[in-house]
Amino acid sequence: MTVLTPFETLELNEEKYIRQITSVLQRNMARDYPAGATLRDAHPRHLALLAATFTVAPDVPPELQIGVFAKPMTYDAWVRLSNASSTPQSDLHKDIRGCAIKLRHVGGAHIPESDEADTQDFLLVSMPTMSLGTLKLFRDAIVLSLGVSPLLFVAKMLLTGKGRMLKTLQRAKTNPASVLELRYWSTTPYLFGSQQVAKYSLVPTSDPRNDFPPVLTETYLVDDLEERLDAAEATFDFMVQLRRDPAHMPVEDAAVEWTEVQSAFIKVATLRIPPQEFRTEERAQLAEALAFSPGHARVEHRPIGAINRARMTIYKILSDFRHARDGRAKPV
Ligand code: HEM
Repeated sequence: MTVLTPFETLELNEEKYIRQITSVLQRNMARDYPAGATLRDAHPRHLALLAATFTVAPDVPPELQIGVFAKPMTYDAWVRLSNASSTPQSDLHKDIRGCAIKLRHVGGAHIPESDEADTQDFLLVSMPTMSLGTLKLFRDAIVLSLGVSPLLFVAKMLLTGKGRMLKTLQRAKTNPASVLELRYWSTTPYLFGSQQVAKYSLVPTSDPRNDFPPVLTETYLVDDLEERLDAAEATFDFMVQLRRDPAHMPVEDAAVEWTEVQSAFIKVATLRIPPQEFRTEERAQLAEALAFSPGHARVEHRPIGAINRARMTIYKILSDFRHARDGRAKPV
């Protein structure tokens, strides 16, 4: 049964869209990968799975001392960096990059949709908004593009005056010097306690170098990570932006940017990635075995809005599918 907070509106045909999206994506996974080597449908190429720590700041403002941010402490975390394209393509392709953070041993009560009892996940991408801002647009993109033909989806967007959204998405795809120098956003909103709503952002704080190798290679982003994390740690500020102006900061349209003029991002924690060797078979296997989802959440951080409600169901079914198909248990 769908749980709706007072901040949300049920989308017409929501259940049907979730079923349609799940069925197209699952069919594609079965078609694209042999059993035993089933990758995620989205963000299939991981650049790295990194061990990290997440330290809650000592000066979190009282209104943000909630859930995992209630008191200054350090959590162990996993960070999975990825290329977003549903095809596991090389780093040479311009793409959106993903950063999924899993805090471990967080305690507290979890939402009933969570199939993990002691984690808190934050899923972020390298763009501030989701150009396909509603579940219906995601459903059109997936069912028409992946289920029928990408041209049909583009034609529909152009015919309905939504060509600009496709341009925004194209522009957000880049070849960065390093995924440790990118800024990431949640794009979709989350409860922050029972009375507040927030979005998240991760801002890089290590010294920016912005140095590209003389020639970009198929693995230049992974090579860059290896070179940087061989010697020094990488750090990010984890920031929270409260929804202070509900009339102009919608919950149900992730294409509308919540600007920093409307509400500033406030630092609540430091993500620290220590030097480490991550290009190992063991790490690669763990990256496939772990499942990240906005649904892995404490009650204070419930994901909200139709896109997030859909993601809780879709990610669970599809990660269960790839684990069952590959005969692999999910690590606890
Ligand atoms: C209805 C819309 C969406 C659908 C259908 C969708 C679908 C998926 C799927 C199927 C996966 C792989 C799950 C698994 O097998 O473990 C995934 C991963 C991911 N998604 Fe989405 N997604 C949606 C919206 C978003 C949004 C708005 C964001 C913004 C932050 C996002 C960020 C990510 C990231 C970062 C990952 C990689 C997680 C990892 O490293 O395991 N997605 N998505």
